[in-house]
Amino acid sequence: MPSTLLAKPNINNLLSSTAMALCSAFCPRISANFRPKPFSSSPSKPLLSLSFKVFSSQATDASSQDKFSGRVGFLGLGIMGSPMAQNLIKAGCDVIVWNRTKSKCDPLISLGAKYSSSPEEVAANCDVTFAMLADPESAIDVACGKNGAVSGMGPGKGYVDISTVDVATSKLINEHIKARGALFLEAPVSGSKKPAEDGQLIFLTAGDRSLYELVSPLLDILGKVFCLVSHNTQIFIGGILKPVIELVIASNS
Ligand SMILES: NC(=O)c1ccc[n+]([C@@H]2O[C@H](COP(=O)([O-])OP(=O)(O)OC[C@H]3O[C@@H](n4cnc5c(N)ncnc54)[C@H](OP(=O)(O)O)[C@@H]3O)[C@@H](O)[C@H]2O)c1
Repeated sequence: MPSTLLAKPNINNLLSSTAMALCSAFCPRISANFRPKPFSSSPSKPLLSLSFKVFSSQATDASSQDKFSGRVGFLGLGIMGSPMAQNLIKAGCDVIVWNRTKSKCDPLISLGAKYSSSPEEVAANCDVTFAMLADPESAIDVACGKNGAVSGMGPGKGYVDISTVDVATSKLINEHIKARGALFLEAPVSGSKKPAEDGQLIFLTAGDRSLYELVSPLLDILGKVFCLVSHNTQIFIGGILKPVIELVIASNS
């Protein structure tokens, strides 16, 4: 299916302004006269060290057309996490789940998921592990706490935090994951319970490009569109780009 660029020409200036704001936020020494190039349907050129791309989930990237053949861990089975894990299972993924309240794992186990008794065990047994936790405290606890996912990470593995957390939390988790030689991607979602059930969430992603490419087929199952923010430098989203997603949705509705 052809790639559909979400950003229509009439919002290019708006997106460019947002890119400018982001450049200012992340690169405070940039001249006030600097103007990033508008978005185009061809792959974006780097804006200094920051590159933006806006993709549909059916992007022409070869990576997103491949199937993910590894094992997927899923931590956090609340309002959002449960339907997301369910969609992965229904799509045929090999999924291991964990939730603080174990009973929330049961419906997923009955659909074919396996269960591990700690985030550490999930991460140790999976190629990539998704975390959908309530807030920064729980995201840190599940990743970096006792029997946390970090303890089960290692080279060749990836951790995708899809919780909505602040920049400091993403940085902290990233550091712990990197210290184990693993890859990290932050991918907060825009949507709610119904889009989660329908596989219509929108992801903003930033972090390791190779992990992004690896999990693209999984993001395709969970969401209709997603935005790759930057993989040239370590950029932490921390909710900054959500207004952009909302603008893109509004412009396409
Ligand atoms: N709901 C939405 O419409 C929506 C939309 C976009 C983004 N988000 C974001 O998505 C994330 C999840 O939201 P949600 O609506 O699914 O929340 P939720 O229903 O409250 O679920 C939160 C999950 O976090 C777990 N948790 C909470 N504190 C924990 C702790 N200290 N240790 C371990 N696990 C803990 C809960 O486990 P238990 O089951 O044991 O309580 C549950 O699995 C949040 O970051 C939210 O901001 C939500």
